[in-house]
Amino acid sequence: MTREDILQALREVRHPARQDRDIVDLGMVHDIEIAAGKVTVTLGFPKRRDPLTEYLVGSARAALIRHLPSSVASEVKAIVVEDDKPKKKGLALGLEQLAEVRHIVGIASGKGGVGKSTVAVNLACALARMGYRVGLADADVYGPSVPVMTGTEGAVPAAEPGAEEGQELILPLEKYGVKWMSIGYFANRGQALIWRGPMACNALKQMILQVKWGPLDYLLIDMPPGTGDIHISLVQDIPMEGAVIVTTPQTVALADVEKGVNMFRNENVNRPIFGLVENMAWFTPEAHPDEKYYIFGQDGGAQMARELGIDLLGRIPLVQGIRESGDAGEPVALGSRPDGLAFLELAGRLAEKLG
Ligand SMILES: Nc1ncnc2c1ncn2[C@@H]1O[C@H](COP(=O)(O)OP(=O)(O)O)[C@@H](O)[C@H]1O
Ligand SMILES: [Mg+2]
Repeated sequence: MTREDILQALREVRHPARQDRDIVDLGMVHDIEIAAGKVTVTLGFPKRRDPLTEYLVGSARAALIRHLPSSVASEVKAIVVEDDKPKKKGLALGLEQLAEVRHIVGIASGKGGVGKSTVAVNLACALARMGYRVGLADADVYGPSVPVMTGTEGAVPAAEPGAEEGQELILPLEKYGVKWMSIGYFANRGQALIWRGPMACNALKQMILQVKWGPLDYLLIDMPPGTGDIHISLVQDIPMEGAVIVTTPQTVALADVEKGVNMFRNENVNRPIFGLVENMAWFTPEAHPDEKYYIFGQDGGAQMARELGIDLLGRIPLVQGIRESGDAGEPVALGSRPDGLAFLELAGRLAEKLG
């Protein structure tokens, strides 16, 4: 049994992410040790935590068992070898682009449909109206709504070369005095829905870290609804200062809010919650702007905040105009209607809190 026999056996192992080339051809066989009765093969992986490590090591082990005489034991090890090739274009994802951002705030909710994006977009516009430099990153892989809500649907962000060789930076879109970036600018509607797991995580991080934000007072991140791995990884990798949690007043929402809060209080994350926003706190009919109908009771949000030990940052009414202006791409916080003023008050309280 020679080195050549072993290489021959290992040629059966193909790398599914590298055009199905075999691991010998790809130069991944780092070392072969042949001792009496035992063969040890070391595979070198260019990346830390290559998701295919386990798979390739297992396949190599199976190939050796198939081809070596049963009297010979075999072992396959994996090591990480330094990648000396230049970084792939546009994938240098450090925190450099966030260097001039003062406050990064996640806008989160335990579940979808509570008005998280509506609050995020209007909060961004309200902060900009108050004179702050604001950006918003729409990280909702499942349903990015910032393009529609800001009337920037179909826009294609420009790119320019970054400071490093081969690096490419994405330029945010500017409208209403806010810098907008959305995963929706890079995918057709629906196409975004197939992003899952690591792919979604990477796309999200890229959409935040590879953007030329420039100097900002606030960068808001419209987080995807829910509290899964994507969220934890996003909060860990983006230096978010803390979060604002959006909810509706129904008591059934409390459990979801608690999940959202715990995601930030989790020991691996451990970021402060700046407060709760109670959206759709009451209903005001378009024709009777002075009337308030507390469909789900008056104190739901305040009580929820008290129970969770966080502040109630703001209460936003349910009014037709908020939905209509969202659909029309002209956030209500830009105007002077009372429902827009609710967002200005919210922005004032957040700004006061963050200093
Ligand atoms: N306060 C409100 N008044 C009226 N409609 C609202 C209000 N908040 C949200 N909506 C509407 O509810 C729907 C869901 O809101 P959205 O912000 O997309 O929720 P999420 O981002 O939590 O999924 C949208 O059609 C939006 O226009
Ligand atoms: Mg949304």
